Amino acid sequence: MRRAVALLAAVVVSLSSVLHRPLAAGARLAPAASLHRTDTWPPTPQAKRVNLTAILTLDGPFRTFLGYLQQTNLVEVFQNQAYLTDQGITIFVPVDRAFAALKPPALSGLSRHQLKNLMMSHTLAKHYELAEFEGLSRIGPVTTLAGGLFTVNVTYDAGTVHVRSRWADAKVVGSVSVDAPMAIYELDRVLLPDALFRAQPPVAPVPDAPAAPPPAPAGGEGGGADEAPPTAEPDPAAPGRDDPAAAADAPVSAGGASGDRLPHRAAAAAAIGAIALVAL
Ligand SMILES: *[C@@H]1O[C@H](CO)[C@@H](O)[C@H](O)[C@H]1NC(C)=O
Ligand SMILES: *[C@@H]1O[C@H](CO)[C@@H](O)[C@H](O)[C@H]1NC(C)=O
Repeated sequence: MRRAVALLAAVVVSLSSVLHRPLAAGARLAPAASLHRTDTWPPTPQAKRVNLTAILTLDGPFRTFLGYLQQTNLVEVFQNQAYLTDQGITIFVPVDRAFAALKPPALSGLSRHQLKNLMMSHTLAKHYELAEFEGLSRIGPVTTLAGGLFTVNVTYDAGTVHVRSRWADAKVVGSVSVDAPMAIYELDRVLLPDALFRAQPPVAPVPDAPAAPPPAPAGGEGGGADEAPPTAEPDPAAPGRDDPAAAADAPVSAGGASGDRLPHRAAAAAAIGAIALVAL
């Protein structure tokens, strides 16, 4: 019961942050001063913490990314970057569909260390508002949390933000959480840096977000909550298989990708995200 209440609270909180999107996005038209962090950063030292595990579990189809974060012990690293530094963090989270579109050897051939770098290459060591990507797009390659070998190019065109690595052009399709110091944006593709992939890994076309979301099953909230615990850990990569060729026949078991991922809530978030982006 207490868990249900906590989950419900988390949903309300995450939905309310979802509902913030149009405001935050629209704010780019306001004078720059109003966007500054001092406005969103409470003067009290107790900034409200986002629980990364909880938000990625509840707020979208992000189980695969979360599974990799847990597997590489990065959840705490990201939380600490957010809450123990002055800069904060920006995390680009590819949706489960994007991971599913990678042909199995692409990630299963990575070592744990490489996987960690891949996850960190989806992260910038600073909190960025959506509107700030416009400035970021002018400065060329941006170093990610994975270091200087793992840069991304951010482009900003009429409100559409792309994040590019060598082998992937990903689009920001939604914002999951924008408040400083932890910004989380949804990507439609997995970034594929050349420091990890010497050649372009095969990637199937990523299907668009489902246009007609399936209706919420009766009592789906409770059922989803029971299936949601982070112990449902994907086992995406075969550890220790450093040779991509050797792993060619190893399927990626992308735990959450095909399974139970609270479709109605995700679809609602996606729909609101789409509206927010259109509002740009
Ligand atoms: C974050 O949420 C997860 C899952 O809901 C929970 O297991 C964990 O204890 C939470 N962490 C903190 C620091 O509250
Ligand atoms: C990023 O932009 C620079 C030029 O600013 C270019 O040389 C480089 O190839 C780009 N990288 C990617 C991955 O698009």
